[in-house]
Amino acid sequence: MVYPIIAYGNPVLKKKAQIIEKDGTDVKQLAEDMFETMHNASGIGLAAPQIGKSIRMFVADATPLEDEEIGEWKQVFINPEIVEEFGDEWAFEEGCLSIPTIREDVIRPEKVKIHYFDENWNEHTEEFNGMQARIIQHEYDHIEGILFTDHLTAFKKRLLKSKLTNISKGIVKVDYRMSFPAKK
Ligand code: NI
Repeated sequence: MVYPIIAYGNPVLKKKAQIIEKDGTDVKQLAEDMFETMHNASGIGLAAPQIGKSIRMFVADATPLEDEEIGEWKQVFINPEIVEEFGDEWAFEEGCLSIPTIREDVIRPEKVKIHYFDENWNEHTEEFNGMQARIIQHEYDHIEGILFTDHLTAFKKRLLKSKLTNISKGIVKVDYRMSFPAKK
């Protein structure tokens, strides 16, 4: 099932998401739906708040990047906790399915160590670097109620303000289904 993607301005995107109880949510079905929703929008990462669910889960699929080093990397992260971020900081132009048409450089450490459960509730602690770490850091931010635009300078934020307001109103060209909080 393809969910509409929640657009910038909806309070669910600014909320710290809740831990998922093992018996409470069908995480396998939800992961499937999240992958379907993400692929439909040509994304490489999607967090549960972006489909209106304030729970700690995100999915990643870097296959569309066609990065030889990463290859076909597709993974589900449930109740993730970032243990450590390390390595040199680097800038990369990020985008977000909830904030279509905007792309800006965000600086993040190149490596991340993360503890999480997969869709079978197996527990893992793993290290990622480069683009994989980047996707994980961006999606992890989502479940903490942080958007990539929150990392920008006050000056950059001011420049983007009217564009962001327009996105929340649905005044944006986008080729996947979205839910706009301020659409009249
Ligand atoms: Ni995003």
